[in-house]
Order: sequence, then structure tokens, then C-alpha cells
Amino acid sequence: MRILGIETSCDETAAAVVENGIKVESNAIATTKEIFSDLGGVVPEDAARRQVECILPVVHTALKEAGVSMDDIDMIAVTKGPGLLGSLLVGISAARTIASIHNKPLIGVHHTLGHLSSIWLDATTEPQFPCITLSASGGHTDLWLRTSHTEGELLGKTRDDAAGEAFDKGAAMLGLPYPGGPSISDASQDGNELKYKLPIALKGEDTLDFSFSGLKTALKYTIRDVEDAQVPDLAASYQLAICTQLCDRIVRAVKNHKAKEVHLVGGVSANIRLRSLVEQELGDVSLRVPKKISYCTDNAAMIAAAGHALYETYGSDAAKDFVSSATLRLEECD
Ligand code: KG4
Ligand code: ZN
Repeated sequence: MRILGIETSCDETAAAVVENGIKVESNAIATTKEIFSDLGGVVPEDAARRQVECILPVVHTALKEAGVSMDDIDMIAVTKGPGLLGSLLVGISAARTIASIHNKPLIGVHHTLGHLSSIWLDATTEPQFPCITLSASGGHTDLWLRTSHTEGELLGKTRDDAAGEAFDKGAAMLGLPYPGGPSISDASQDGNELKYKLPIALKGEDTLDFSFSGLKTALKYTIRDVEDAQVPDLAASYQLAICTQLCDRIVRAVKNHKAKEVHLVGGVSANIRLRSLVEQELGDVSLRVPKKISYCTDNAAMIAAAGHALYETYGSDAAKDFVSSATLRLEECD
């Protein structure tokens, strides 16, 4: 089954063609990161305007790069939410129009289920269950116990900022460009991550939730109070504090639930320090991350993979009414 995926939940306009939820035939993306980099974040109205300009060229590029036409597409999968309303509406309207013109089934995909599905892209072996999945991006930080591709239990989530948001806000405080994750990661390379001891929230408490607001405040006061503090040391120490908190919850969840493997997904899963820290702590339990960095951050291939998984699990019911909650069995996935 060949699926055209469309993702427009934030500032990226993306379309992709994926066969059987695994083989990525194309993964096109128009990004506006450079436009928002000086502003320190995304301006929703500007993002939606850019989506309108980009959506049809990006869909066209995805089909062209895959070497297919709409006749070769069996189904369309589109992000139904959550995200910026104006941006989402552009993708959903385009998907509905294309589906109607070409008489194709349309399935709505929860953005988080898309991230959870990114592990399947180009995978050569089947993921094993139960697994623990950390999905961490600019909008959410969720810890899942998954018993199948589309079923799971939410073990913990952030009580305030998302991990990616913590990277973005920390970067803004340090005068580094948006998005903060990659810029903090780059700045950290020349820094000493043990220079400043920043707080690890909820450590040792009986919860698998996350919290990053206190850490953000601690960075603010360190910048204010420490004379001659160097950006690389601050960035590295801040990055370590975020990654240590994420790693602490993952390791505890693995122990509690005897997980066979751990998945890191979402924009923050691109972080090299997070990957090395988790790998070091896991011992025999294997770690899977998306095969490419472009599968960690927002992309449409993951939406196509999620659409395929929903179709495989729930059959044509999943595509009957794309706004119905039947298309999302990870009930608490928001
Ligand atoms: O999944 P994503 O592309 O979009 C959302 O669904 O939000 O995630 C974007 C987030 C941003 O906050 C960005 O700073 C973060 O992912 N990010 C990273 C890295 N690359 C992107 N965070 C840490 N390290 C990275 N290398
Ligand atoms: Zn995302």
C-alpha cells in the first residue's frame, strides 16, 4: 500500500510517499526555520501564510521524487492535530481536496502517533514490544509504554514546558538562534557540561512526569549572577540537565515494565548527548532512534507510516471519517 503523507502542524510544509509504512520513496519538506530564527520562535499567522504558498509545490515534489502519480497512491494520510490551527487547516484542506478529486481514502493522523511511527521508516527489523518510547518535541514530552504500534499507555508527560521548548527558550536566553536544540547542541561542543550544576526536576519522586520550568529559571539566574560565564559551558550544562532528566524517567520506566527496547522520537531525539546518555544507561536493552535526523523532526513520512499502521490495525474503518477518534487508539495522545 502506497500512502501520500501530508504534515503541516507548525512551520514546516511536508509531503512524502511511503510504501507499506516502511519504505520511504520521497520525503519533501519546505522549512521556514531561517525566517523564524531571528524572531526566536514561530509566528503562527506567518507560518500559515507560508503553508499556503508551499503546500501544492511540496506535494508535487513528493510525487515527482517518488516517481509516481496520484494514480499510484492508495491512500492519503494527513496530520489532524494538535498544532497551530491555521497551519493544520492548510494541510487538511489540501488533503481533502486532493482526496476528493482523485477519489482516494483519507485518514487523519494524530501528530504524536506520527512521531511514534518514525521508528518504522526504513526499518530493517521489526520493533519488539513492550517498548518504552520517549516522544519529545517542541510541543510535547511524553513517555509511553507501548504494547503494539498503535496501542499504549501514557506513563508520564511534562507538567510545564516541553523538552524542545526548554531547548528553544534556553537558547534564546543564551543569545543562540532558533531552533534551540541544534544551536545548544553545537555550542555545547566546546563547553564543560559539569561546570554548572543545574537542577534535575522530580528526581527520586514517585512519578514519570517531567518538568523544565525550574531548570529554565536556574539558567536565567546563572546567566545573571555568574560573572564571565561562557556560553559553551552554560549550553553544555543546560543540555546535560535536560538530557539527564529525560534519561532518568526512561531508565525507571524500563525497569518497572521490563521493556524489550527503548525508542527515542520527536525533534529532541536528534540530540546526540541524549542518545549517548540513554545508550550508556540502558545496558542490555536496545535503543532505537529514527534512521535519519530528518525523521526525528517534523516530516510527512512519519504521518504516512502512522496512517498505514492505523489502516493495518483498524482496516477501512480508520479511513471512514478522518475526524473521528477511531483513528487514534492511543487515547491520551495529546
Ligand atoms: O518534532 P519537532 O520537529 O516539532 C514539534 O513537533 O514540535 O521538534 C522541534 C523541537 C524544537 O524545539 C527543537 O529545538 C528540537 O525539537 N530539536 C532538538 C534538536 N533538533 C531539534 N533538541 C535537541 N537537540 C537537537 N539536536
Ligand atoms: Zn512534531
